[in-house]
Amino acid sequence: MIEIAIDGTAASGKGTLARRLSVKYDFPHLDTGSMYRMVALELINDKKNDYTNLEIESCKIAKKLSFKQLENNKLRTEVVAALASKIASFPGLRETLNLKQIEFANVNKEKYGGCILDGRDIGTKILPNANFKFFINASVEIRAKRRLLEKNISFLHGNDEECMLQSLIIDITKRDLSDSRRKTSPLVPAEDAFIIDTSSISADEVMSIATKIIERSNKIVG
Ligand code: DC
Repeated sequence: MIEIAIDGTAASGKGTLARRLSVKYDFPHLDTGSMYRMVALELINDKKNDYTNLEIESCKIAKKLSFKQLENNKLRTEVVAALASKIASFPGLRETLNLKQIEFANVNKEKYGGCILDGRDIGTKILPNANFKFFINASVEIRAKRRLLEKNISFLHGNDEECMLQSLIIDITKRDLSDSRRKTSPLVPAEDAFIIDTSSISADEVMSIATKIIERSNKIVG
């Protein structure tokens, strides 16, 4: 049974790689970031995002969270991402979501022979014995440019575009710092992870690097 763990910084391309590998090998994929985002979105919707008991409220939401809820476009905003990163430092919330992630992995390994999880602590905490571990990164400028392209906004003035890019660079940098400096399960490459810098390569090239690594092991027949 195959476990593929993909970690990395915000907007580095880890989700794209995970989705492509999921299609290629027919293993279910879980975007664990969307679980933290879903809890954050519900806190915002319930107006509990500046509540003093943020950890308790987050855990209550997390306990009821189902995988079906994760297909939601409202999860993709920077406001949701920032709150997701903030609450991701709560040990109680992480324990609740970790159990769901481990259950996802176990059920799908049994049913489909493999699973793919992406996030921040997959190779270090959730799947420490994964068959393949990848750590995806890129320069903050490139990641901000990719996020801007995803937003698909047409700007009337070049200045507006530059302002939005600078604001994305600030948001992503803040998130990198909060994800990598927290005490519980910080964003850090697993010692045995393959590190891929996607700053100057395309999504196709990232996929090709990852599949070569997987296939040379002969553990999966692609
Ligand atoms: O991957 P993403 O950008 O959608 O993740 C949103 C936030 O969730 C991220 O800034 C940190 C948190 N997160 C985490 O702490 N651990 C994970 N396994 C996945 C995400």
